[in-house]
Amino acid sequence: MPKLTVKDLNVNGKRVFMRVDYNVPLEEKDGQMVITDATRINETLPTLRLLLEQGGKLILTAHMGRPKGKREATMSLRPVATKLSELLGRKVEFVDDCIGDKVEQAVSKLQPGDVVLLENVRYYNEEEANDPAFAEKLGKVAEVYVNDAFGSAHRAHASTEGVARIVAKRGGQCAAGLLMERELKFLGEELESPARPFVVILGGAKVSDKILVIDRLLEKANTILIGGAMAYTFRLAQGYKTGKSLVEADKVDIAKAALAKAKKRGVKFLLPVDDVVATPVKTDKLDKKGKPVIDWQNPHTSADMNCPDDAAGLDIGPATIKAYAAEVASARTILWNGPMGLFEDKRFAEGTNAVARAVAETTQKGAKSIIGGGDSVKALNKAKLGDKVTFMSTGGGASLEFLEGKVLPGVAALTDR
Ligand code: 3PG
Ligand code: MG
Repeated sequence: MPKLTVKDLNVNGKRVFMRVDYNVPLEEKDGQMVITDATRINETLPTLRLLLEQGGKLILTAHMGRPKGKREATMSLRPVATKLSELLGRKVEFVDDCIGDKVEQAVSKLQPGDVVLLENVRYYNEEEANDPAFAEKLGKVAEVYVNDAFGSAHRAHASTEGVARIVAKRGGQCAAGLLMERELKFLGEELESPARPFVVILGGAKVSDKILVIDRLLEKANTILIGGAMAYTFRLAQGYKTGKSLVEADKVDIAKAALAKAKKRGVKFLLPVDDVVATPVKTDKLDKKGKPVIDWQNPHTSADMNCPDDAAGLDIGPATIKAYAAEVASARTILWNGPMGLFEDKRFAEGTNAVARAVAETTQKGAKSIIGGGDSVKALNKAKLGDKVTFMSTGGGASLEFLEGKVLPGVAALTDR
């Protein structure tokens, strides 16, 4: 680890300004916002405990959702303070602002071992703009800066980047938290020279989201297995009909280039050999985004590479599952990112669930499995297999950008060793 970590610090009696990613899923129940998955909070506890044992005064800052500079009540971090207090087993004071008098007053009262959580930093537009004056205001109370928010490390925002620079300019230390360190280790170092065969499973809706990752992994992996709707853009590239499947017609050249690169480098690049297809019928119901809910009718397996005109591919089929599971079973290192189909619907979840089982089983036999966050983590947890893999990332966009080989601004801003 080229950066300072919390293990290198002694924060006894110091005010530690710590960025965490507590952007957890919330649902409204009886007029209250309830946290439906506290993984991101849980994962920061080791860092918090270490700093508290050292006698630090902790000032936690985070964002929730994308309120775009407005005080959206549904995006308050208050429920997170309650949950954190429960999990940490000590009082967590909540301050309903992240800069200004209220914060300074609360901080002035802190004793070693005390914790405050500040309100959503994105209630200010200056956060996402990485406004230097706003970063100064945030950093006013900071003696030491810690970043444990891997999930937000791809953002160059005031609380993830600007404050670190300000603390550093004053001669203060800026360190990675233990979660940040673990994420960088598993998604970075561990994949530098992986035990082979190294099998990568990539799914999800869009080729455009994954193309940079595919390109980079084509230089490292022995085998790449493709699933999810993005497989149909590859089918289109091979000249097949894709019916009503989700495709990115303008990304066909990118798909072709990936296929050519795989061939040139001798990477086994597998696409589905069968699908579960269904016919979409629009209903009168609207989804959360105001779009008509689709009723998927007549789901069935099809081994025809040409999708019928009125149908869409929604999951990998049984022959593909068998082939992919066999590849996974032979692996010594596995990286998985993205579902194999529309797994939120039970009828199209078998591909994703089968991959989850294969990854878990192969891990139990000694392989190392690294899950790149987002929907794959959701699917593993849903199948109660989350504890059967080596590592699950708390990052979505951040893990993808890191796997692409990009420098994460939130990491770059930390103090070099
Ligand atoms: C996430 O959930 O992806 C992170 O918390 C970052 O959120 P953002 O995509 O709104 O920046
Ligand atoms: Mg995101």
